[in-house]
Amino acid sequence: MNAPHALPPPGTVTAATAAFAANVLEGLAQPQKRISSAWLYDRRGSELFEEITHLPEYYPTRTEISLLEAHVDDMARPVGPGAVVVEIGSGSSRKTPLLLRALAAPHAYVPLDLAEEFLWESARTLAREFSGLRIAPLLADFTQPFALPDDLQAPERPRLGFFPGSTIGNLSPAGAIAFLRLMAGALGADALMLIGTDCTRDPAALLPAYDDTRGVTAAFNLNLLARINRELGADFALAGFRHEARYRADLGRIEMHLVSRRPQRVRLCGRHFDFAAGETIHTENSYKYSRDDFCALAHAAGWLAEGSWSDRQQRFCIHRLRLSPRARSYPRASLRSPMHPAGA
Ligand SMILES: C[S@@+](CC[C@H](N)C(=O)[O-])C[C@H]1O[C@@H](n2cnc3c(N)ncnc32)[C@H](O)[C@@H]1O
Repeated sequence: MNAPHALPPPGTVTAATAAFAANVLEGLAQPQKRISSAWLYDRRGSELFEEITHLPEYYPTRTEISLLEAHVDDMARPVGPGAVVVEIGSGSSRKTPLLLRALAAPHAYVPLDLAEEFLWESARTLAREFSGLRIAPLLADFTQPFALPDDLQAPERPRLGFFPGSTIGNLSPAGAIAFLRLMAGALGADALMLIGTDCTRDPAALLPAYDDTRGVTAAFNLNLLARINRELGADFALAGFRHEARYRADLGRIEMHLVSRRPQRVRLCGRHFDFAAGETIHTENSYKYSRDDFCALAHAAGWLAEGSWSDRQQRFCIHRLRLSPRARSYPRASLRSPMHPAGA
């Protein structure tokens, strides 16, 4: 077993570390051990995710980029000049320039993510290309209420939410509805959203996308244990676990797990957690939605689907949603995110 890493000295535990510890301790105490996928993205995790997006098996990124390249003018057509663009789970912001170039004189870009280093670096990179654009990064949890900076709340400015990467699939369907209601509150009346969803239900395409031959997805998943060791002082032996991707046709989702290779005990924050051989930690869900199912889900949250763009094989879809007038009574968010652990 590895020697435990030192915990940060008392008084230096940040709100983010406390939220991380709370989520991990709570999740490992469940009969099916689980940790929210939001914690997969420390610096190393974000780098590994970028590597995944370039793998031949990982069709979602290249399909979504092709859809944007082919149709972004249509997607962006109803957005007026001077828009405020809010990108959720912005990561490397690699797809953002395609959208910003299609908009008429966008006023501001608000990337929102929990991965702090990537958030600032991507903002700096974009600032070099879009020199007149106000860029206001928001370090926040998208499952919690958040508010735009005061000066970007002027109701006359068009507001466009951008949520690519099929990250919405990491939330349960009920969580996705709750998220879309939060977005209604944060963006306000007449808002539009562009959301990328993975529509694939073919295990022959899905399983390699989440378990590639080079082992990059495995390294991404196992990095979560390295992060828990480093940031929370746990003693996970990384060689004692392996990555597994499962397709749950009954639930329409891919699951990622870390499987214990043998019986073992892990110590964390003064507690211990026992693992039987074969027992797993469930680390990610990725729900796959047909076009109609996603439009129905959006509708349940008060958003009307007014356009959807898909590839020929119908593997991926980008939806344009408009906040329906009846949804405008959702309260406008006035809180900054308290860095709360993300719900699965
Ligand atoms: C699947 S990656 C997508 C990245 C990028 N948007 C793309 O399309 O390739 C998910 C991104 O969402 C961020 N993220 C995940 N859960 C989050 C949460 N609860 N709040 C804020 N950001 C979150 C991650 O840090 C990561 O950058």
